[in-house]
Amino acid sequence: MNNRVLITGGLGQLGWELSRTKPPKWEVWITDVYEMDITQEEVVAKVFRELRPNIVINAAAYTAVDKAEEEEELAFRVNRDGVINLARVSKEIGSRLVHISTDFVFNGLSGVPYRPEDEPAPLNVYGNSKLAGEKALEKIYPKGSVVIRTAWLYSTHGNNFVKTMLRLFQKSSLLRVVCDQVGTPTWAFNLARFIWFVVDHFDEFSKGRRYHFTDAGVASWYDFAVAIEEETRSWRTHSVEVVPIPSRDYPTKAIRPPFSVLDKESAWKMWNEKPEHWRKALRRMLEELYNSKEWSFG
Ligand SMILES: NC(=O)c1ccc[n+]([C@@H]2O[C@H](COP(=O)([O-])OP(=O)(O)OC[C@H]3O[C@@H](n4cnc5c(N)ncnc54)[C@H](OP(=O)(O)O)[C@@H]3O)[C@@H](O)[C@H]2O)c1
Repeated sequence: MNNRVLITGGLGQLGWELSRTKPPKWEVWITDVYEMDITQEEVVAKVFRELRPNIVINAAAYTAVDKAEEEEELAFRVNRDGVINLARVSKEIGSRLVHISTDFVFNGLSGVPYRPEDEPAPLNVYGNSKLAGEKALEKIYPKGSVVIRTAWLYSTHGNNFVKTMLRLFQKSSLLRVVCDQVGTPTWAFNLARFIWFVVDHFDEFSKGRRYHFTDAGVASWYDFAVAIEEETRSWRTHSVEVVPIPSRDYPTKAIRPPFSVLDKESAWKMWNEKPEHWRKALRRMLEELYNSKEWSFG
């Protein structure tokens, strides 16, 4: 087999982190919706037949959780039908497929971290569409694919909670943030490095098929916002008070799981690195953003 890796959704935050963490041994082809819309079966087939990638990393997804409530068809087209296209063509060519999924496949009513084998029960359209993608992949190409579920991603690249908070800190000295949804903030850079490890050890990971990966520790969105405020305070001209509020005071179109913590034991056991606590990872990402001079902390 050749050393070609095809990455879908390459312009998203995870796709971008995958590009910059690529180990030298892999020759990487980055695509996004403009080069290869994963919902277009013929386009996908053409690219695969030309490139014949050894490995495909599917980082493409419809990720607008609230908008998905109104765009159900589109969410399913990308998150289910797109995965079906990738699974079918990967099977035909013999490419191995690493697919990324989400904590939102669970309803969050558990009090203990979700294991990969726990029963999913999504609460919203996005979660349902991602679960439909997982199920289709399991049916079409179980032997040639691995699913990695993650959560609460952020990066210096793209839109995410960290950047939203930084933007709001510039405009306001008081911010209300929900404190009754708990999960694990995860730097997409760390996830990308884990994914490359899976690519390098695909045969071992394919025995388990489904894994969970986030940074270490837990936090509410409120804790996360407080940490972002504290870590960046010395770079701003004013401090911001972050106030905890219940989810009922911040209604959203999509219902979100109250407890999104994933059990990472099986993934971490196989990884050759020590998982990083989310707060330490956040500090590193913010330093990177600060040093890039692309962000004005004001
Ligand atoms: N972000 C999170 O907090 C989070 C949490 C749990 C799991 N995940 C999962 O992690 C993966 C990566 O997420 P991310 O945060 O990197 O998402 P992202 O930043 O939204 O990136 C997704 C990329 O896929 C592209 N895309 C959308 N439709 C496509 C299509 N039909 N064909 C090809 N590309 C398409 C998007 O393009 P456009 O921007 O032009 O639409 C975007 O560049 C996804 O599977 C997501 O479900 C994310």
